[in-house]
Formats: sequence, structure tokens, C-alpha cells
Amino acid sequence: MKVTIIGGGGRVGSNAAFALQCANLVSEIQILDANTDLAQGEALDLLHGASSLGDTRIYAGDYDRARDTNVFVITAGLRRKPEESRLDLINRNVALFRNILKDIRRAGHLGCAKFFIVSNPVDLLTHLATLELEVPAHQVLGLGTMLDTARFRSLIADELQLAPSQVKALILGEHGDSMIPVWSSATYGGLPLAGYPGCTPQFQKQIFERARGSGAEVIRQKGGAGWAVGATIADVVHAIALDRRQLLPVSSRQSGRVYGIRDISLSVPTIVGRDGVVDHVEIDLWPKEKQGLQASAQTLRQTLLKIS
Ligand code: LAC
Repeated sequence: MKVTIIGGGGRVGSNAAFALQCANLVSEIQILDANTDLAQGEALDLLHGASSLGDTRIYAGDYDRARDTNVFVITAGLRRKPEESRLDLINRNVALFRNILKDIRRAGHLGCAKFFIVSNPVDLLTHLATLELEVPAHQVLGLGTMLDTARFRSLIADELQLAPSQVKALILGEHGDSMIPVWSSATYGGLPLAGYPGCTPQFQKQIFERARGSGAEVIRQKGGAGWAVGATIADVVHAIALDRRQLLPVSSRQSGRVYGIRDISLSVPTIVGRDGVVDHVEIDLWPKEKQGLQASAQTLRQTLLKIS
């Protein structure tokens, strides 16, 4: 399994490369970046750790050497300013993103490669990729609310002093302001989280607000997310590499089959495996969650109109 990280010289891309290297489950990681010195530096630094971390081949490459890539991870892009919404990024990032898609297409031989979009605004860029890459939609997916879900679970666990791995709580919809917390299915150790001491309606409201604002909080404190986003990127790459068929909140193009949502990409419960998006699953949500998801789709569709 060969993974090419475009934007691999940046914090998100290089942290993703490190998460993949630590897991030692993919055979090859190619680092691509417009800043070739940075790509060389990150690749060299990672390579230095290979004797401790495993045999994954890591190198700074180019689009020609990307031809036999199985998964392209696109992290390149400009970062949000703390006061900026992810959607504000759109005009600044779309042109850059289209150039990357052009470079990928020019490299040719894409075959059944998967395209995994991380750059923001991730749902809209994922949708653009499905429209412009000329590959079946199931080969394109975005990080969506994977990171929001990870933050949500970890923050709930931290506040209530629970084991993070046993807190299961999803966020769906837009990776942005209209994201939706799914309390209807939140559990701790298999039991309803809402029944757990301390998990009051007020706590639920506060912890979701903290998760939703986490991207901006981290930008203020350290300039941008890195480790957690790297870990969630690795989760998705591994689900593809190992054909895990996990149900993940990745972003992908909707055809109207679940929750009545179509003509936009966003996060719904999605089975991820070797083919990329294997299936979308409509699981019962509370009416207000379903309405929130549909409103999130509407918000994204309106913004999409401004760029197409
Ligand atoms: C964040 C960026 C990765 O949420 O969108 O931190």
C-alpha cells in the first residue's frame, strides 16, 4: 500500500505521516509539497526514525513517482485564521486545490486510487474532487467530522474521567459550524452515555461547544491542529488499506439514498474499506439530529453554489 501525502511538508501532512509510520501498516509513504526543501526535510527526519519505528519506506517524491499511489492524502492548503470560519477559506483554497487535482490528473494512471481530502473547507473540496477527478465517487472521501468526533469523545472522557476508547459519540454533518452531535447513540462501555453521572443536558451542550470550537482553540494556542488530525487520517487510511469496513464519519458525495440528502458531500455514517466509500447507512436519529443534518447539507449546498 503506497500513500502519497500532498502537503506532506506541513504540520497536518507530516503528523499524518508520523502516525502512519508508527502504526507500520503501509509499505510506502511519499511526501509531496510545493516547498520541496520542506518535503525533503520532513521525509529525511521521518526516515531517520525508521530503525526504531518500522520498515515503511519514506521519501520525498514528485507527481511522476506518484503514479502507482493507492491512496492520495491531500492536506495542502492555507490555514484558517482563528476568527475565520472554515467556509471563509473557500475562495483562498479552491484555486490551489484545483491545481493539485490538475497535477494529479496529469500524472495519469490513477486507476483505482483513492483520494482522501483533508484540506479545508473539506466537504466542499471533497465534492469538487468528485466532480473534477473523473473517477467513480466512491474513490473520493474527505476527513469530514472524523476529527470532530475524536475531539468530542476525548473531551467527554477527559471531563468525566472516563476511558476515551470506551466513549462512543459521533459528530455528523459539516466539518464546520453546522456540525451535529449525535447524543441519541452516545455510549460508555456499551451503555447510554446520557445516563452516566455528570452527563447532564448542560454538560452535553458545553462539551459539544468545546469540541466544535476546538479547531480555533488549537489554532490560537499552537498555530493549528497536528497530532489528533494525523491520528484520524491514519485511521481512515488503515480502514482502506486493511479493508476494515469500519463505520466512520467521513465526508463523501450523497446521492439522496440516506437522510434524503443529495448533491453535496458531508459526513453521514459510512462504511470504509478497500473500495473507499463502500456504503452509506441510514441509522435512526432523533428528529432534531436528522433535521440538523439536513440543515447542514443545505448550508454546504448554498456555499457550493457560490463557487461553481
Ligand atoms: C481543525 C482543522 C483541521 O478542525 O479543520 O483543526
